[in-house]
Amino acid sequence: MTFIDDLLARMTLEEKLGQLNLVTATLPLPEDRAADIRAGKIGGLLGGLVDCSFGVGGPDAAREIQAIAVEQSRLGIPLLLAYDVIHGHQTVLPIPLALSCSWNLGHVETAARIAAREATACGLNWVFSPMLDICRDPRWGRIAEGAGEDPYLGARIAEAMVRGLQGADLADPESVMACIKHFIAYGAAEGGRDYNNADVSPARLADVYLPPFRAALEAGAGSAMMSFAAVNGVPSHADADHLRLLDGVLRVSDFNAIPEMIAHGLGDEHGGIDADDPLQTLSERALRAGVQMDMMGHGFASRLPAALAAGRVSQAEIDAACRAVLEAKARLGLFDDPFGRCDQARAARNLLAPEYRVAARQLAADSCVLLKNAGDLLPLAAPGLSVAVVGPLADDAWNILGPWSFQGDPASAVTVLDGIHAVPGVTVHHARGANLVEDRRMLDLLNFAGPKVTLDPRPPAEMVAEAVAVAEAADVVVAVLGEAAEMSGEAASRMDIGLPPGQRVLLEALHATGKPVVLVLLHGRPLTLPWEAEHIPAILATWFGGCETGNAIADLLFGLRNPCGRLTTTWPRHVGQVPLAYDRATTGRPGSRDNDPGKYTTRCYLDGASEPLFPFGFGLGYTRFAYGPPAASASQLGPDDTLTVSLSVTNTGARSGEEVVQMYVTDPVASVVRPGKQLKGFEKIVLAPGETRTVRFRLTTRDLEFHTPRGDRVWEPGRFVIGIGPDSDTLQTLTVHWRR
Ligand code: NOJ
Repeated sequence: MTFIDDLLARMTLEEKLGQLNLVTATLPLPEDRAADIRAGKIGGLLGGLVDCSFGVGGPDAAREIQAIAVEQSRLGIPLLLAYDVIHGHQTVLPIPLALSCSWNLGHVETAARIAAREATACGLNWVFSPMLDICRDPRWGRIAEGAGEDPYLGARIAEAMVRGLQGADLADPESVMACIKHFIAYGAAEGGRDYNNADVSPARLADVYLPPFRAALEAGAGSAMMSFAAVNGVPSHADADHLRLLDGVLRVSDFNAIPEMIAHGLGDEHGGIDADDPLQTLSERALRAGVQMDMMGHGFASRLPAALAAGRVSQAEIDAACRAVLEAKARLGLFDDPFGRCDQARAARNLLAPEYRVAARQLAADSCVLLKNAGDLLPLAAPGLSVAVVGPLADDAWNILGPWSFQGDPASAVTVLDGIHAVPGVTVHHARGANLVEDRRMLDLLNFAGPKVTLDPRPPAEMVAEAVAVAEAADVVVAVLGEAAEMSGEAASRMDIGLPPGQRVLLEALHATGKPVVLVLLHGRPLTLPWEAEHIPAILATWFGGCETGNAIADLLFGLRNPCGRLTTTWPRHVGQVPLAYDRATTGRPGSRDNDPGKYTTRCYLDGASEPLFPFGFGLGYTRFAYGPPAASASQLGPDDTLTVSLSVTNTGARSGEEVVQMYVTDPVASVVRPGKQLKGFEKIVLAPGETRTVRFRLTTRDLEFHTPRGDRVWEPGRFVIGIGPDSDTLQTLTVHWRR
């Protein structure tokens, strides 16, 4: 009998259900929570734990709480201590969407490792990260928390995140259990409205939404969280078919999501519901479907005893869920060393360690995407330059941290103004120029968790006039505009994804001065910027870069680093184009790029081009690369052959720089309509001026597989077009034939 069998055999029903109960905790821990821990009625705590201070208050508090479970409860079972560590903990790192734009898996792993070290130094053993939701609709605020629109890149990033968080051994006190979320297709929410449902064909689910989850499971992710959405009519917390795909990992509900199935209108499997107690019906259903831990729904603990007595759930189902929680705790090493992650000395060493800030600066810089650089306006030459740094985000230390940065301290964040001030030889003038938003209702929504967005009471015209005067006196204008942190993240969808109107007025006024304007964007999603892209000579997308934002942006603006990020989402021209992704399939009337007025069969929209503003994979740098013609190792292949495609890339510019060489595959004729192209490989290379490198990609029939409408995973022989280039829209192609 294993140790967990033995433990299970000694547990009462209440203690077993206690393990399935995940509840919030604030500090100091309220006495009723402490009493429940003592009574074995709680399996884990989330949030609040380390909220006590921005400093190192965490590990001692966690130790005290863990001690209640380990030393004062009957069986001494340690607690899972969880937190939303989404992009760094105290050292706030770029938001996940930003980091994905680095296309640098080493960076992703480093970010996850820093977060794990800091989180575990605070006593945490479980983080609700990474979010693996593929998203093609930038209205959805949570696009900020994921890796963009592509399943292949998403899968590689998922693996790197799990590696970084969980380390080589989950029992190591510096490792933390990852929680892959939200299962599944939460990012397909209709209309980009948060918490909404989605209708996704099984083939699309398997080919687009599942790959990052599969990759994370193969990398050993310890737990998974269900999504608030109903997919194809079934809320994920009740979807046994989907939950089965997560066998072997601890499956936790999202916050209060089991009771929320009442509002979904869900009954039991036969359509009925216990009118007196719908929570009982749905708690039973969630358990039967495979949910093992109930986050703040309270139904598992309070309703499953009656359900068991009535024979509506079985003892075996409860035992299996309890076993999963205990096994997760065992994998984390908590039974051997419950206090290993409660180490004040390590916290003092690890939290906000200087080397983490160095990494934060590089990660933030490498996440930025240079979208436009007409006339090589950038990089700016520092000595003697006078710069007008303008805009509501220029001197903002709160919003640069981004959403989900509860542990970040704005006092230690470097604003863009700070960053530019620190560049030797530059004279800086500053004006706010506009408020982030003027709309009072929006302001209240953005400040729901604290005053992150302030309002300058001056009339907008006065602020613009001040900024124009500052711009006129300078050589160049850096306009720092965009979104507030809370405009993305959870419950933060937007209908209009352009610059807020007051900021746009400011930008137009700055442009009208005739001074060269560099638009530095801070944002949590792709934005619609057709006017800006036409009129403003240089545009740098910087997302929310975290605590080193200002230094990272200054490094790029003044050429200390080369911008090397590439978009991981397609940027639409207009919100009316979404959802939009690079892999969209062609139609029977494919259309032309410019909506040829003579041909109604080629029109897509009457009122605008159908092509995106910036394609997936796009980004500029300060040097140029020339791609040689791609060559294939064979043009005819058999089913077991490996195709190698190679090409040379030369840095033809005067500076050293990074390039993301991307490979896409098109299956032009198949039994079903296939995506127009699909990313199947990429390599980020660094080349010195004049240097040439040969890049090689390998493909097997495994890479050509897809799911049929019947759910079969197949590859179909025939012609394949391989495209290689710097972005999804600029490819050199070659054709090969694969026979069965
Ligand atoms: C709800 C969110 O959907 C989820 O991502 C998060 O981890 C939980 N709340 C806990 O805060």
